[in-house]
Amino acid sequence: MVSASSDREGEQVALDEQAARAPIGTQDIWGEASRQVEAVVSTFAKHVELAGYGLLLGPMFEDARVFTRAMGHASEVVVKEMYTFEDHGGRLLALRPEATASVARAFVQHRPPSPWKVWYATPAFRYERPQAGRYRQHHQLGVEVLGSADPDLDVEVIALAERFVAALGLAGVSLRVGSLGDPACRPAYVEALRSYLASRAEACCAEHRGRISVNPLRVLDCKTQECRSVTADAPRLQEALCADCRNHQDRVLAGLDALGIACKLDDSLVRGLDYYTRTTFELSADALASAQNGLGGGGRYDGLVEALGGPPTPGIGFAMGIERLMLARLRPGAAGPPSDVGTSTPVFVVDMVGGSAARDLTDELRRAGIGADRAFGQRSLKAQLKAADRSGAYYACIVGPDEQARGSVAIRSLRDVMPGGERQLDVGRDVVVAELMGLIAATGATRAPL
Ligand code: HAM
Repeated sequence: MVSASSDREGEQVALDEQAARAPIGTQDIWGEASRQVEAVVSTFAKHVELAGYGLLLGPMFEDARVFTRAMGHASEVVVKEMYTFEDHGGRLLALRPEATASVARAFVQHRPPSPWKVWYATPAFRYERPQAGRYRQHHQLGVEVLGSADPDLDVEVIALAERFVAALGLAGVSLRVGSLGDPACRPAYVEALRSYLASRAEACCAEHRGRISVNPLRVLDCKTQECRSVTADAPRLQEALCADCRNHQDRVLAGLDALGIACKLDDSLVRGLDYYTRTTFELSADALASAQNGLGGGGRYDGLVEALGGPPTPGIGFAMGIERLMLARLRPGAAGPPSDVGTSTPVFVVDMVGGSAARDLTDELRRAGIGADRAFGQRSLKAQLKAADRSGAYYACIVGPDEQARGSVAIRSLRDVMPGGERQLDVGRDVVVAELMGLIAATGATRAPL
């Protein structure tokens, strides 16, 4: 145990083994992995901003009632997975298990002009059994649109998800689309399904046997052989859709077809969250195991804003799991070349004159928009060049006593990328920034987006 007194005495006391590691189901993402994440997030931002979506930054936690209202008191996420806690003021809060409910809460609070089109990149917290691709803190990229029931908006949102995955270079991705009906047709269907399943409860898997009365739809989604055999002959949701839901679905499917987006109509696409109405969809990676192949999913939630106390407002959106996208990109042949062709700091300043040359030149380079790094602690030439090499830089700018006396800087190529074939150039201190700009533009020695 670390006591205050041992801290005061400056003793080194090791944390116990568990406390010294990231909590179960969480991870530190750094180095090349975090660079890849950064590239995925910036690709997403560009992609959705081209379609008119603006960034929404919201709180990581909400009054727990936002999620219980949005997802239902009996939903799996609320009952089993939510991180709920009381703060020092006695308020019951919950870490966001997803972002859609928070976005709807923000809409109710701010009443922005609609349609309100937002995107987010956010951690999400769910107390799940950790396994490959399933974490207690994962990260989502998503969009939400509030204020339009037009089925062409469903097409826009699904197309954004599909095109984004394609822009990442992911192949072997399947799109499934379904409809969950609306308050006019779903209740009768759920009743019919409930009585069908109740008469066959014994044949369902142990987990779902007891949940038939609470949420029979969930059984449709169960992957066990027992539940699959039972649901094979269950009443079909597609056959129970009312005329409005069918027309909506027809327009969505026709729109996807017109855009050349292939999809499979899936009658069992019930999704894990209970706020959906009408359109649902999921993108999955064919090469990943079924417990982790869901890259992203979403759908309509036309009753959500009202459930949170706002005016009747339709909505639709999706979220992608960043860790899942990264897993899918790691599959051989799944993605294009890795992003490590290039670096965010193509220049490394090596200073052999006491540090002020490196201090001033890195500042000047960065202000000119050139990524630059340096070593600290007045290390030897060899150590600084080694650090330069490790940083991935293409050019070392070396200032030694001779260069300082001459008013010049030696630009040394670290990767054989100097046009003209020289290994080293001696250029005037006053033109070094312009010279490097030219070299970088000519050799593309800067980080490629993906
Ligand atoms: P979701 O399907 O629960 O939907 O999560 C979206 C994505 O987050 C999943 O497809 C998966 O890639 C990733 N994900 C979920 N849980 C985990 C986990 N434990 N570990 C790693 N990745 C995970 C939603 O959250 C909805 N809010 C999506 C939405 C937006 N619907 C309408 N708008």
